[in-house]
Amino acid sequence: MKLKGRVAIVTGAGRGIGRAIAITLAREGANIVVNDIDLQAAEETVKIIKAMGYEALAIKADVSNKNEVDSMIKKTLEAFGRIDILVNNAGIFSSTLIENITEQQWNRIMDVNLKGVLLCSQAVIKTMKNQRFGKIVNITSLAGKVGGIFSGADYAASKAGVICLTKSLAKQLAPYGINVNAIAPGVIETDMTKYWPKEVKESFLKQIPLGRFGKPEEVAEVVLFLVSDASNYITGEIIDVNGGYLMD
Ligand SMILES: NC(=O)c1ccc[n+]([C@@H]2O[C@H](COP(=O)([O-])OP(=O)(O)OC[C@H]3O[C@@H](n4cnc5c(N)ncnc54)[C@H](O)[C@@H]3O)[C@@H](O)[C@H]2O)c1
Repeated sequence: MKLKGRVAIVTGAGRGIGRAIAITLAREGANIVVNDIDLQAAEETVKIIKAMGYEALAIKADVSNKNEVDSMIKKTLEAFGRIDILVNNAGIFSSTLIENITEQQWNRIMDVNLKGVLLCSQAVIKTMKNQRFGKIVNITSLAGKVGGIFSGADYAASKAGVICLTKSLAKQLAPYGINVNAIAPGVIETDMTKYWPKEVKESFLKQIPLGRFGKPEEVAEVVLFLVSDASNYITGEIIDVNGGYLMD
């Protein structure tokens, strides 16, 4: 087991990529805090992990709300006594045309996708600094590197922000033994992409050398690498998981 005794918080882990990450880290021995804005979904993930014989706790919090995030960290410390791993996965999608993006929608996307990463990271820094150990992984997106293709400019800009935030956190936290990296998935088969129009999916498929979309577990395995000791000398890196769509 690669993560025995470690404590991990995975945001947005009620379904999709976050659920796969929570299950994968649990399988390697980490105690998992399953965060989601949807408590029922988080509890469902906890049930799956417990059925596998591992420890997990569901905590409802909106990652864009500082009070709720701080309370989640407090509850995590009360339950498990330390925080070794934070995976900032929670996110919301938009495919709105640029001229139709309202100010309200822009703010919500930025609040959840970008400010949420800042708030959750800020909330664990003190604990990780005291431990002189921590691993933070942020889930950005291919859209954050190449601009919105089908996704909206608001979504793409928020994810580009996550890339820069990752590098800034990596530089500032490195002296304290805290590694900060990100993963930029391409198209992954989850509820987020399920309802994309057929022609959009077909057009993407033509540009993916591996000829298929990714699975949540294929993102989760890269998270596992980034939170395990195998990646101790990697920080500030953005790893593509996109079937070869973008090779940079
Ligand atoms: N699916 C893809 O193709 C893809 C590609 C690139 C990046 N991503 C990113 O991966 C992450 C996970 O995506 P997914 O496909 O699993 O999405 P999803 O919509 O299936 O799951 C997202 C989860 O986050 C939760 N969530 C939403 N807002 C929240 C908030 N404010 N606080 C806490 N939880 C919240 C949702 O309830 C849901 O359970 C997102 O950040 C997404 O932008 C996904």
